[in-house]
Amino acid sequence: MITNEFIIELPDLKFDKNALIEYVQTYGNWKNEGYINNYSRPTEYSYHIDEIGLQLFNLGLDSTDIFFAELQPNIFLFPHKDIGRSAAINIPILGNFEKTPIMFFDENKEIIFKYYYRDIACIVNTQYVHGVKNVSQYRCILSISSNIPWDVLQNKNLCGCSPGRGLSLPS
Ligand SMILES: [Fe+2]
Repeated sequence: MITNEFIIELPDLKFDKNALIEYVQTYGNWKNEGYINNYSRPTEYSYHIDEIGLQLFNLGLDSTDIFFAELQPNIFLFPHKDIGRSAAINIPILGNFEKTPIMFFDENKEIIFKYYYRDIACIVNTQYVHGVKNVSQYRCILSISSNIPWDVLQNKNLCGCSPGRGLSLPS
């Protein structure tokens, strides 16, 4: 399990990936905000997203915002720091994640760490300069914003976090 200054994996956070994929593909009321990676914020929440939020609450994590971060094929999400949040709890949904790691850069624009999303949630330190180079496949991540500083996140016990209402989620 990876826990470092860039990424904290959350292997215990349960989510129904197929339900999220179906939700993304059938949701008809996106609000696009015009960023290159096409943030699309649902105007209503699905039950599955509620379940994820409840687990985050059980872990003592905040969720100040939630949206789907889409990346169209062959788009380079230029290295940047996120504005308005200190970290992102990210769940990979659709994309070629074996070929599109999130890359972290130092002040000389050299890559210092690459993280390949797996089928688990993770927290990303979005105050490090980071970027993604997409390949020829649509890429979509459910992203939940947190304002908790990284050093506090790293010292939290982030194991456990059972869903609140006994929903049967894949284990
Ligand atoms: Fe970002």
